[in-house]
Amino acid sequence: MYYIGIDLGTSAVKLLLVDEAGKVVNEVTKEYPLSFPRPGWSEQEPADWWSAVLAGVPELISGVDAGSVRGIGLGGQMHGLVALDELDNVIRPAILWNDGRTAKETDYLNEVVGRDKLSQYTANIAFAGFTAPKILWMKANEPDNYARISKIMLPKDYLVYQMTGVHATDYSDASGMLLLDVQHKRWSKEMLDICGIAEKQLPKLYESWQAVGTLKPDVAAAFGLPESVLVCDGAGDNAAAAVGTGTVGAGGCNISLGTSGTVFISSDKFGVDPHNALHSFAHADGGYHLMGCMLSAASCNKWWMDEISGDTDYAAEQAKIDDAKLGRNHVYFLPYLMGERSPINDVNARGTFTGLTMDTTHADMTQAVLEGVAFAIRDSFEVAKSLGVSIPRSNICGGGAKSPLWRKILANVLGIPLDMVATEQGPGYGGAILAMVADGRYPTVQAACEALVTVASTTEPEPELTKLYDERYQQFKEIYPAMKSLFPKLM
Ligand code: XUL
Repeated sequence: MYYIGIDLGTSAVKLLLVDEAGKVVNEVTKEYPLSFPRPGWSEQEPADWWSAVLAGVPELISGVDAGSVRGIGLGGQMHGLVALDELDNVIRPAILWNDGRTAKETDYLNEVVGRDKLSQYTANIAFAGFTAPKILWMKANEPDNYARISKIMLPKDYLVYQMTGVHATDYSDASGMLLLDVQHKRWSKEMLDICGIAEKQLPKLYESWQAVGTLKPDVAAAFGLPESVLVCDGAGDNAAAAVGTGTVGAGGCNISLGTSGTVFISSDKFGVDPHNALHSFAHADGGYHLMGCMLSAASCNKWWMDEISGDTDYAAEQAKIDDAKLGRNHVYFLPYLMGERSPINDVNARGTFTGLTMDTTHADMTQAVLEGVAFAIRDSFEVAKSLGVSIPRSNICGGGAKSPLWRKILANVLGIPLDMVATEQGPGYGGAILAMVADGRYPTVQAACEALVTVASTTEPEPELTKLYDERYQQFKEIYPAMKSLFPKLM
């Protein structure tokens, strides 16, 4: 038996074929464009996601008996607004999770409606990337498009709709819309009224492991799969990655170093950060989680290498960073290339290098980029600790986690061991696990994780280096407050 995990990322869709024992037997990646039509805006064409899946699945299953593929599960970039008209055609390009155009609408929600009310209705406040402010932005700026909205979908849910014909979403991804009453797992009537939308414009809610349907005949034919293949909606990519790394039940932590950077703390109980700096969302295992999300993590290094350094050999560049230099860099980097979400919630924040001198080398700046991302992850980590959450160790996944140097920096900046699981394709693997549960192979997501996920390596912090990094972090913490008032003037 085989299961397919689909990770709908920001730069590419990653497809995994996983056998019933949990072994990844094939992997296909298809990239698609990301457009930044204006500074701080970020859009993608849902048709590009779907074409990538249509091209990728036949390639993924070539060589295996298609009749033994049983289920598909997804993990997808969160918060993106996919608006469909009454014929289910996409009205405009999707506005993505890292788009910062909604400052006005976010301020309206937080200041006029009020943080307390939002938190009471949804367990969260408004952040620019969330879906509700985008709906208000469309209402104010594209009234004709807004008037045509028949269904509001999230990115991976658009793929599920294409595959099954069902308008579905799951609780973890729906949590990031600011339309869900997260604690009670139902749409918030108050939030729908605030955004001027009706419940029928929203997809039906499912648990991440619940089967939504089976493949439509034309899709089954295009994929080369039987129509009986089950599709479960899966989860937002962070919840799916948490499943893929076994971060389920009470007290787990997963750090993802992908395009975004997240600290994900799983819990079997509902809880809210009283300051709402961390998101309070439903988890894909039936429980809940707290999450801090920085908008640019591994993407800072990609930007630094591809755009600025013109060098795609990341490992060779990192090899120039001497161990003796760790914890002693006097160059600092603020990683706010797309503004920032957690914990500072500032769309105007920008990336900066600080502390450059005549002897600064290119490698020092590369190191500063890796360290700046680690320090910003620590910002969310500190918020969680201040709530009394104990995080003695964490899993780590995402493209950036493949770098041993970055793992070492992060383990020492946080002062905890970081575990890498044997199958490090977080959201895609989580999607495949959820499909196994949908197919009845395991009674619960926890049981599936216990059977399938194992730790392959651990990066331990070193006391001396942790101390040095702690001193550096205290300095890093002073840079953003010192620059904050300048950023809006730099537009
Ligand atoms: C989470 C978030 C990002 C995206 C990235 O709140 O916005 O992690 O899901 O795909």
